[in-house]
Amino acid sequence: MPLDIVVGTQWGDEGKGRIVDLLAAKADIVARFNGGDNAGHTVTVGDRTFKLHLIPSGIIHPHTICVLGNGMVFNPVTFLHEVEMLQSAGVAVDPSRLRISHAAHLITPAHRALDQAQEIARGKEQIGTTGRGIGPAYTSKTARSGLRMEDMLDTTEFQRKLCRHIEEINSLLIKIYGAEPLEVKTVAREYANYAAHLQPYIDDTGMLIHRGLQKGQRVLAEGAQGTLLDLDHGTYPYVTSSAAIAPAVFNGLGIGVHPVERVIGVTKSFQTRVGAGPFPTEVFGRTAERLRGTGKNPWDEFGTTTGRPRRVGWLDSVLLRYALRVNGVTELMVTKMDILSGLTTLRLCVAYQSAGRTIQELPLGPANLAPFEPVYEELPGWEEDLREVRRWEDLPEAARAYVRRVEQFCGVPVRRVSVGPERSQVVEVSG
Ligand code: IMP
Repeated sequence: MPLDIVVGTQWGDEGKGRIVDLLAAKADIVARFNGGDNAGHTVTVGDRTFKLHLIPSGIIHPHTICVLGNGMVFNPVTFLHEVEMLQSAGVAVDPSRLRISHAAHLITPAHRALDQAQEIARGKEQIGTTGRGIGPAYTSKTARSGLRMEDMLDTTEFQRKLCRHIEEINSLLIKIYGAEPLEVKTVAREYANYAAHLQPYIDDTGMLIHRGLQKGQRVLAEGAQGTLLDLDHGTYPYVTSSAAIAPAVFNGLGIGVHPVERVIGVTKSFQTRVGAGPFPTEVFGRTAERLRGTGKNPWDEFGTTTGRPRRVGWLDSVLLRYALRVNGVTELMVTKMDILSGLTTLRLCVAYQSAGRTIQELPLGPANLAPFEPVYEELPGWEEDLREVRRWEDLPEAARAYVRRVEQFCGVPVRRVSVGPERSQVVEVSG
């Protein structure tokens, strides 16, 4: 019963979409288990680039069944837009190969309005959310007042629940945040229309995956965001509102605990973050500009969902080791090695220093990183352009040494590195 899991080991944007696309070639089912359209997964095939926020990246391969699991929060507008975008690009997308869990929660315009009002109210302590209503939708879920996909199957009851939900959030918007309320009837009409379109996609996807695993089908679980944005294990409170780590797969897909073949952790060769929160190895100035890019290329470090410039820094092996531990990562993929070309010296954070002590492991997880100063090891860079390299032995020695050093600090093998955004720009690590 082969189940593989792909997770981000940083603050999201590690390049999970491209590795899922790569592994989906041999998968039968590709399933997302957390988050919503706050995610931005980019897949480049030839000269075509697909930016997906909600539909699993495995959809580009025509043979896969793709699942949006119960651990997700679902924005119908984004979903229908992505279906249309994929169909017009010639990707076969219909309810026969795209299934949404009956127990996934709906995001409504009220959730989005509340997300934005709450961010304004936080003032200087803003989280820098994507504004997609993610936090409020998960809050409705845990408060047991949310709307689930299965509610859309009973049109009359759905309208009643939806109107009550909008009215409830309207009263918060008016009384607590002094914000504009939503027009209940307009939202109700809009969502009745979505329900009609979405009904054929709704399914018990836990059952679908369970049966697939029993038949020996290969299932690939696609994580969104990253470990350091995980609600419990990330840099709280500067996190998202879902469980983004590998153990969340079982709950977020509605399957029992199954043997997992591989937990594939994805890390960039450096580090990025969008939104607020601690970032010990953050860099500024010319190095930052160099790592971020100008924004002209789709792979430059500007948010896929919000377009915001990402904060950038050196790879932090203390945080990486932590991420590997809480996920149970069995192998690593290091992305964007090509971006490091041309830097004379690379810095790798190998430990933290605090009050005269050097530590390799965080005493209480990553929520409070303020007391720690990174300790760097410097490694030689390389000049060569890596984008055409396809064999491990053809990478410059300094690039191979960098990967090996990361491996040594993490204790997990690096199986692949990427040298560009295109599907084929991947090098298998050997030797
Ligand atoms: P939210 O998920 O919109 O509530 O945002 C919470 C934090 O997570 C913010 O710092 C966002 O920038 C960040 N975030 C959410 N999704 C992603 C993602 O897919 N990539 C990178 N950062 C993300």
